[in-house]
Amino acid sequence: MSQSPVKVAVTGAAGQIGYSLLFRIASGAVFGPDTPVQLRLLEITPALGALEGVVMELDDCAFPTLDSVEIGDDPRHIFDGVNLALLVGARPRTKGMERGDLLEANGAIFTAQGKALNEAAADDVKIGVTGNPANTNALIAMSNAPDIPSSRFSALTRLDHNRALSQLAAKTGAGVADIRKMTIWGNHSATQYPDIFHAEIGGQNAAEVVDDQAWIENDFIPTVAKRGAAIIDARGASSAASAASATIDAARDWVHGTPDGDWVSMAVTSDGSYGIPEGIVYSFPVTCSGGEWSIVQGLDINDFSRSRMDSTAAELIEERDAVRSLGLI
Ligand code: NAD
Ligand code: LMR
Repeated sequence: MSQSPVKVAVTGAAGQIGYSLLFRIASGAVFGPDTPVQLRLLEITPALGALEGVVMELDDCAFPTLDSVEIGDDPRHIFDGVNLALLVGARPRTKGMERGDLLEANGAIFTAQGKALNEAAADDVKIGVTGNPANTNALIAMSNAPDIPSSRFSALTRLDHNRALSQLAAKTGAGVADIRKMTIWGNHSATQYPDIFHAEIGGQNAAEVVDDQAWIENDFIPTVAKRGAAIIDARGASSAASAASATIDAARDWVHGTPDGDWVSMAVTSDGSYGIPEGIVYSFPVTCSGGEWSIVQGLDINDFSRSRMDSTAAELIEERDAVRSLGLI
């Protein structure tokens, strides 16, 4: 190994997504074959026994890139010196829980983890939030970590982005690799807006290639936006391998950069670009270079897109106001 090790924290490591994610990180999928990884895995106390079993399996893979694994239930200890923190663990909605209850339960997790990251993480830490409600959980963690620049936090909409690529490829017969400049705007929820008006297929405008506004409105957008629910219906459990894969894609591109001539979707703190209210964690088209993301500027927004972008922003403002009134931010 030619490089010094990176420390990667994963929360909710004994969960479904963790079971796919850890093996990919350990085998070099984020940092490449020359960078040793030190995994630091956070779980709640009752899940530590199951997590020990996962660590046995990690050992048994004998990954050359896996330097060490540490597990625990204390975020301050697990986040010590971490360069990348993937916040996957979250409280799922259970029977009888209202949205406010879910925000409150997750608020307790993400306030504590934000504070612990603030105290313990490395100066260059990047934090990716997968646990739902991902955008608002990222906002809560960010608000509780005043010493970490807000640009170091993002929430996962890469799964939605990948879903959109796959649906558009299936519709047009193109390969996913032929499609560029897909965009997911807004919240990782059913109000998200998957936008193909700037996307390109083999260099041609995707909306023109499709030439079917009814398909965009009645098929493409709802299929992508409600895919999570469709998977829960079919599998009896929420997406896990695809969510882990998207978490890897997002972290890898943030660290190593996006390909020339393309962009990805990441939910990041809004700077007011495209009229989106400042401070909410909103998914934009971004390019990454040198470990930093920047929002793609100057796209023309048509009336159809404008109203979808504003609706999903309105939902995020409601979530922000709800967690603010709970004193979480
Ligand atoms: P899961 O229930 O299988 O695992 C979650 C794990 O988190 C559990 O092992 C639990 O013990 C742990 N956990 C709970 N509270 C914790 C805390 N305070 N600290 C550390 N660990 C804690 O769930 P999963 O299927 O792995 O999904 C994880 C999250 O990811 C869920 O919120 C899910 O809705 C979300 N998700 C997001 C996307 C996305 O695209 N953003 C996609 C799929 C799933
Ligand atoms: C997904 O998009 O698959 C998940 O966020 C769905 C969910 O509600 O867990």
